[in-house]
Amino acid sequence: MSEAHEGEDEVGRQVDIQASSIDRLLSTLDRAKEEMEVGDMLKGKVAIVTGGASGIGRATAILFAREGAKIVIADYNPKGSQETREMIKEEGGKATFIETDVSKPGDVERMVEETVRIYGRLDILFNNAGIGETAKVTEASLDHWERVLAINLRGVFLGCKYAIPKMIENGGGSIIDNASILAEVGFSEAAAYSASKHGVVGLTKTIALDYAADGIRANTVCPGFIRTPMVTEGLDQQTREYIATLHPLARMGEPEEVAEAALFLASERSSFITGTCLFVDGGYTAR
Ligand code: NAI
Repeated sequence: MSEAHEGEDEVGRQVDIQASSIDRLLSTLDRAKEEMEVGDMLKGKVAIVTGGASGIGRATAILFAREGAKIVIADYNPKGSQETREMIKEEGGKATFIETDVSKPGDVERMVEETVRIYGRLDILFNNAGIGETAKVTEASLDHWERVLAINLRGVFLGCKYAIPKMIENGGGSIIDNASILAEVGFSEAAAYSASKHGVVGLTKTIALDYAADGIRANTVCPGFIRTPMVTEGLDQQTREYIATLHPLARMGEPEEVAEAALFLASERSSFITGTCLFVDGGYTAR
């Protein structure tokens, strides 16, 4: 081989060595980036998030997945649920969708059975699905009353009823029920809604007592007004601006801010907290 060819080969070898070093460096950087972005607060856990197709449920499903949980999105809105699932998968998380109407016992029982069949266990239940229909008592139809109670309160009862035995099989779990500031105070024209959310808090406290010995913690998050479709599509601009002023922090909350509270309650970082309400309300109920 001529000297000229030997020189070319040497340059080629050097280029290969440099390229493989750069590849190694890039993959180390990728791993470091992944480690920074993906936490482990819920590593190895399986979580059901009801109402995961939108708003607070979507933000929570995404955050739980980032912290290592496998997620079941349970909602009666397939389109929104699939979108949430895609968002989680794009970030490298694991999620599945189980079509569920939380007011229907058969659906909720199947939601829990399928979760255990797919992921092998159940550790966390975020009972979040809810509707925000409002009416004064004298103007409310019986249908309205029954619908709000069936979704917002019966849905939580059913979720707990079927999930708790599965959690007991694993030695415990964490239940987070989404109530509201209207579980603490009234709000004009929100009779059924406020009654349902007061009910959620009572139910959650009682579950906390009944299943503490089984290693199950049960808590509520009580959000103030949060910028989700329930509020942005349900209220006009003027009302939204007025509502923002009711919070001492002078704004509505973001769904991600409620998700952070739910994450804390879901994780071992809240290991001595059960039967409590965590207000995420910009100071609304502090007045
Ligand atoms: P949202 O309307 O964005 O999401 C609610 C989700 O629940 C939707 O995906 C909907 O499809 C689902 N859902 C409703 N009924 C269902 C049923 N029968 N079965 C299964 N899924 C059902 O509303 P947002 O704001 O995210 O609400 C989530 C929870 O937060 C609700 O329980 C709500 O009462 C509570 N909350 C919301 C506040 C707010 O200002 N946005 C304030 C306080 C509490």
